[in-house]
Amino acid sequence: MIRRRLRSLLVSAALALPLIPLSGVAAEQLNVLCASDNDWCELMRNTFQKETGIEVSMVRKSAGEIFAQIRAEAANPKTDIWWAGTGDPHLQAANAGYTEVYKSPQLEKLHSWAQEQARISGYRTVGVYMGLLGVGYNPEVLKAKKLAVPKCWKDLLKPEFAGEIQISNPNSSGTAYTALATFVQIFGENEAFAFMKSLGKNVSQYTKSGSAPAKALARGETGIGITFLHDLLKETMAGMPVEVFAPCEGTGFEIGSMSIVKGARNLEAAKKFYEFALRADVQSLAFKANALQLPSNASASIPPKAPRPDEVKLINYDFAKFGQDDVRKRLLKRWDDEIFAAQRM
Ligand code: G6P
Repeated sequence: MIRRRLRSLLVSAALALPLIPLSGVAAEQLNVLCASDNDWCELMRNTFQKETGIEVSMVRKSAGEIFAQIRAEAANPKTDIWWAGTGDPHLQAANAGYTEVYKSPQLEKLHSWAQEQARISGYRTVGVYMGLLGVGYNPEVLKAKKLAVPKCWKDLLKPEFAGEIQISNPNSSGTAYTALATFVQIFGENEAFAFMKSLGKNVSQYTKSGSAPAKALARGETGIGITFLHDLLKETMAGMPVEVFAPCEGTGFEIGSMSIVKGARNLEAAKKFYEFALRADVQSLAFKANALQLPSNASASIPPKAPRPDEVKLINYDFAKFGQDDVRKRLLKRWDDEIFAAQRM
């Protein structure tokens, strides 16, 4: 009886030990929060894990959700590195001191816009890709409802588009914060909020994730979606009835970024992932996840169907201003009070 009891205790103790390979050394760990579309997150994790043997735990969340989580965990960080997602929340986290100062030896291999993202953050973040904001529409839905195809932001205010538009919520979504900041920079702040209030009459749903409107368009659940052009074109490439345009007034863009979390427990593994994600060969793998963002490494291959900045009218997006934590807080509170609240009436 005692022998059986002892054996079962030994077995349960052995099972509780972390998996230690024959070499006798526990595998390095890495905890990643990922804000690009899930299939790119998976591709990055699997490729890095295979190359390095480091065990990667990765969760995909929207950029605003990740920022909130990193802020909440700042005193006791669970995350080592935040990869992808719009650059504004990365800058806000950097300005709030939630990310590590780290200057990659590969910096000068990056496009100037990616290096500038690092410089204005005090090297607490870095650009990994560029994405252009735009509008998508489902021609079959618009035709069935005899709706004219829009061309400008102001066209989206037409009463005939009531309930036909989807955009994400800027509290959770980096895409929607980019849109909010873009409207402020195109129209001026008060005009932008008047625009968004009027747009709100046509919005059927403020989604959690930025790419959700593109997926809803593909399913014919909405006629118009405001998100990044590359997320819309991903649906077009999959054979879905999704067309895109960059609005006539001009549009904004994102500098998808990457940041090491301050106090990361697996700092060395985080730096290995950081250098891995900046490499040209790794950024050139994006096409395997149908990711059409522009890579930040100047030697990385650009996906053939990637929207090009020189093809659209881009605003001179003030990342330093809209990457300030206090600007974010003020604009999001105004959006909650004046736009989201109006939706519930
Ligand atoms: C999609 C886009 C990325 C963007 C991200 C932000 O994944 O492909 O380019 O950075 O959305 O996601 P969010 O849900 O925060 O708007």
